Amino acid sequence: MTLSTDRRTRGAERKAPMTSTSATPIAGQRRGEVVVNDIGLDYNGVPALADTDLHVHAGEFFTLLGPSGSGKTTLLRIIAGLLDPARGSLHIDGTDVTRTPTQKRDIGFVFQNYALFPHLTVAENIEYGLKVRKMPAAKRAKRVAEMVELVALGGYADRYPSQLSGGQQQRVALGRALAQNPRVLLLDEPLGALDRGLREELGAEVRRIQQESNTTAVYVTHDQEEAFILSDRMGVMRDGRIVQLGTPEQLYREPKDLFVAKFLGKTNLFPGRLTGVDGAKSLVRVGEHDLVARTNAAITGEDVVCSVRPEQLVFGAAGAGAADAGAAGAAGAAAAVPAGLERLADATVTEVRFLGQRRSIHLDADGIACAADLDPSAPVPVVGERVSLLVRPGEVALVAAE
Ligand SMILES: Nc1ncnc2c1ncn2[C@@H]1O[C@H](COP(=O)(O)OP(=O)(O)O)[C@@H](O)[C@H]1O
Ligand SMILES: [Mg+2]
Repeated sequence: MTLSTDRRTRGAERKAPMTSTSATPIAGQRRGEVVVNDIGLDYNGVPALADTDLHVHAGEFFTLLGPSGSGKTTLLRIIAGLLDPARGSLHIDGTDVTRTPTQKRDIGFVFQNYALFPHLTVAENIEYGLKVRKMPAAKRAKRVAEMVELVALGGYADRYPSQLSGGQQQRVALGRALAQNPRVLLLDEPLGALDRGLREELGAEVRRIQQESNTTAVYVTHDQEEAFILSDRMGVMRDGRIVQLGTPEQLYREPKDLFVAKFLGKTNLFPGRLTGVDGAKSLVRVGEHDLVARTNAAITGEDVVCSVRPEQLVFGAAGAGAADAGAAGAAGAAAAVPAGLERLADATVTEVRFLGQRRSIHLDADGIACAADLDPSAPVPVVGERVSLLVRPGEVALVAAE
């Protein structure tokens, strides 16, 4: 009931765009829910986007993360109305916009290349779309001033794009996209052209601006760290499909498959055999050791891979618990493996690197190259030393072997 009233209001606003462009978001108001229903698109018979469902919640910062060519831009451009899907439907705030032209979708778009008008100042760039929509001059000036403030470009309003750094230009693009108070802000690798330091700084700004303007954001990147910093939730894309959805932490801890496990950061992969499942815990045999791992419902066969993050590995004395190779678990073995840990493998240290916040240790676990991150204050192993690799029961992620 409330929803249909809301829709009627929206429809009215559409006919009088001045009303909607001048609307300031009400604090706490949630708008910009995007529902993608079985949307697909092919190029020359090859799907660039397989039939895809996606529900982006109002107010959410949602990221599409995937390697180049995985279909991220295709999906974003379909949401923007810059590409027509071959199949499926798209709703924004309950309204079917599948065939609605871009300029009537009430969205803002920021691309990797800033795409600013070079002959217009910062203020004029931000003002441009408002002018096109015939917002009255006084309102326009007020809105431009708000946007300049929001994107932290006070003092730069009269500069031309050529007089700004890449990061500042991208702030202008953000201000311009947000000036019309869009329901949804779409961003396609907006930090891609910036160097590392600037990317981090502007990434944090993008998040702040999204929160302050209370705008739903759909963000595209191939950079896992960027996705982690920004996102409430994200979808990992591969070959035109969203293979897994979740919060950054869920995806990092419980990858659905080997691709997601590897794409979301460094990990060590130990082949094993699934020997039992009991609710959230699974029993897996790696070499001659039995481990308790997280259950992964996507696994169907017995051949699995344990995905162990570098920071999950703990070092023990070599051969610790060797006697428990036989399931009997001799008393001596229990003493050798510290409580709350279990043994994954033995390994030889091949490299030790101090990296400031952590010490990176490279190891050879009898043919499996692996890496561990240690706290710099922990005892430092030496190259050639034999150690035991230990993990906490139930922490290791399992994925199906490919
Ligand atoms: N205009 C086009 N013509 C033909 N193929 C295209 C076109 N645009 C994209 N593709 C293909 O569609 C797939 C997805 O592309 P895209 O969505 O741009 O990926 P991403 O943004 O993840 O890098 C790729 O295989 C790409 O080569
Ligand atoms: Mg792209």
